[in-house]
Amino acid sequence: MKTEDKLLIRALKGEATGVPPVWLMRQAGRYLPEYRELREQAGGFLNLCYTPDFAVEATMQPIRRFGFDASILFSDILVVPHALGRDVWFEQGEGPRLNPMAVGEALPAFDAEAFHAHLAPVYEAVKGLRSSLPAETALIGFAGAPWTLATYMAAGRGKDEQAAARQWMFTSPDSFAALIDRLADAVASYLIRQIDAGAEAVQIFDSWASALAPNAFDRYCVQPTKHIVETVRAAHPDTPILGFPRGVGSSYASFLKETGVNGVSLDQNVAPEWAAEALQPHGTVQGNLEPMHMVTGGDALLRDTDRILAALSGGPFVFNLGHGITPQADPANVEALLRRIRG
Ligand code: CP3
Repeated sequence: MKTEDKLLIRALKGEATGVPPVWLMRQAGRYLPEYRELREQAGGFLNLCYTPDFAVEATMQPIRRFGFDASILFSDILVVPHALGRDVWFEQGEGPRLNPMAVGEALPAFDAEAFHAHLAPVYEAVKGLRSSLPAETALIGFAGAPWTLATYMAAGRGKDEQAAARQWMFTSPDSFAALIDRLADAVASYLIRQIDAGAEAVQIFDSWASALAPNAFDRYCVQPTKHIVETVRAAHPDTPILGFPRGVGSSYASFLKETGVNGVSLDQNVAPEWAAEALQPHGTVQGNLEPMHMVTGGDALLRDTDRILAALSGGPFVFNLGHGITPQADPANVEALLRRIRG
């Protein structure tokens, strides 16, 4: 099937498809026994990310089991700081660790060749996926947004991570802006290479956008995202781009209009009726089921699913969760969700 005929791509280009395409953030992961086995075999999370055969297999697992309309490349947002020369490792059961940057510290000059050489296994996995996926399944590439990457790079870990970056932003604004702008260039270049290799849409994850007050939100989330969108579009004008400035409430509207993304992924705190009115006239909406329903299931799952479908199916819409599926999720609840959406 041609890329433009795939259900996900049609929805991201603004079509109201009736039955929406569906995929779930973190659809590959620890709630699947086959993923836990694969990670064991790979001997660690980063080995999964940097070994194309493992990354392809991890991406394929949820597609085989559930037949989602889209797959998302198996990798992590932190491979970008890693490729920029920062130390990155994953503590089992705790999450990512980096060597923290000091306030004012500058990254060395950008070495595009070394950056892309480090990320070559990712591009190879994307290529492998285009020949492994079912004909109708769209392939989504992704990257972390500059702000969210900077929060991990400043704090070195996934706890209280926004405090270190917010402190840096106000005590040494020029060096912080330089870090953000460097990350924006690196992310744009990374996404272009993923699309070159076969990604059919891309998503920019700004998981900590909610920690930014309005002026900072504009400077460190909206402007860098706009720069990434413009740079990627110049190379690949037809590839749809999704943004996920998680937790920003009514600012989803200005983000959508000002960055030029094709669509926004919504967290579960946004009312779908508001999104239909304020967002759908300007772009595609993706989301936004409470991820806990994948753990608890039952009538509450069906009720909230129906409310989202009723509010958003009349416009361009992609069904997803409000954030990633958690390790406690029950695969049977994913099946129940798909039955409800597809009828
Ligand atoms: O299936 C998919 O969604 C594709 C793969 C994917 C992963 N991480 C795999 C992963 C994607 C798109 C991401 C994005 C990511 N990574 C984000 C943005 C989205 C979000 O969740 O807000 C962020 C902030 C990260 C950084 C990160 N990676 C954290 C904070 C953690 C620890 C939390 C956790 O769930 O353990 C990770 C680890 C991680 N990334 C795992 C997976 C499958 C678990 C690793 C393991 O197997 O132990």
